[in-house]
Amino acid sequence: MPLRSKIIGTGSFLPDKIINNSDLEKLVNTSDEWITERTGIKQRRVVSKGESTSDLCLEASKRALQAAGMEARDLELIIVATMSGDMPMPATASILQHGLGAKHAGAFDLNAACSGFIYGLSVADNFIKGGTFNKVLLVGAEVNSRFLDWKDRKTCVLFGDGAGAVVLTSTKGRSGILSTHLHSDGKLWDYICVPGGGASHPPTMKTVKEGLHYIKMRGNETFKVAVKTLEKLVIDTLKANNIKPSELAMLIPHQANLRIITATAKRLNLPMEKVAVNLEKYGNTSSASIPIALDEVVRDNRLRKNDNVMLEAFGGGLTWASALIRW
Ligand code: ACO
Repeated sequence: MPLRSKIIGTGSFLPDKIINNSDLEKLVNTSDEWITERTGIKQRRVVSKGESTSDLCLEASKRALQAAGMEARDLELIIVATMSGDMPMPATASILQHGLGAKHAGAFDLNAACSGFIYGLSVADNFIKGGTFNKVLLVGAEVNSRFLDWKDRKTCVLFGDGAGAVVLTSTKGRSGILSTHLHSDGKLWDYICVPGGGASHPPTMKTVKEGLHYIKMRGNETFKVAVKTLEKLVIDTLKANNIKPSELAMLIPHQANLRIITATAKRLNLPMEKVAVNLEKYGNTSSASIPIALDEVVRDNRLRKNDNVMLEAFGGGLTWASALIRW
């Protein structure tokens, strides 16, 4: 039996504060009808004053550790996938490590925008398969609301805050992570970016005035690339594992746009009952969207032992990634 990694616990946490589409109608020239039709989103959660990314990570991680029956002090590695960490330095993973009391764990952040959770899953999987670590915590967490221009209707209606976490360990059975697939095209980096605040444009009065610290997105161009790319990605992922679309029990896609999700499901011939969708409640929570959806699916008992589950995501970078898991 090959050595594999396996998810043994999931958890998620969403901040309490809800912003409905009707609330956004008061901020920008938009409508519930436009947002619902073009994206599928009805509401999103946002943090309150004093709440930050590491706080969301901590709650989601505690829930995942509890589900796994593991103590924080047993963890060997913590990875936080995020593009909206507490601060540029140190890593949010370090703040989480302290909060959890995970004294023996190494900790780092990983940024692949909305594909971050699957990139992190691939890193964790390879550390475990290679025998370096046996108990890994992976979190996808975002506080996008602090990087949104609430006067820009093209972005502020799309994103939300939240965190999802998984605990992984090694296994020798048939189940576990079968494969991960990572891709990028940096030529299109400016399709989705936060141009200011880094070394290229360090924060000055001018960069702040110009709003360079906000998320910018060329939505329609991104949409077209996403649909085409994801259709190929999901088919390639099944082929790599010799699995037919009909053998797939569940698709857990990144939650950016319902039209992108349904196009991917259609390509796989999957009925929507087999697709995890929660973007109507949370919007696009970037690297948190897949682990939040996975946690909901697990807690709703929608997965059976040995079910084939596919994760897929597309986002800034541009990056795209998938994973096939035998549950
Ligand atoms: N309310 C009302 N009208 C709006 C809004 C709004 N909130 N936003 C844009 N519009 C208008 C535009 O101004 C445009 O008007 P015009 O025709 O008069 O110029 C019209 O609606 C159509 O705009 P499009 O951008 O072409 O609309 P589209 O149907 O493409 O939907 C959306 C936009 C929802 C952003 C879609 O393109 C999308 O989901 N893109 C992909 C996003 C994605 O997958 N990103 C990757 C992950 S994110 C990450 O990695 C951080």
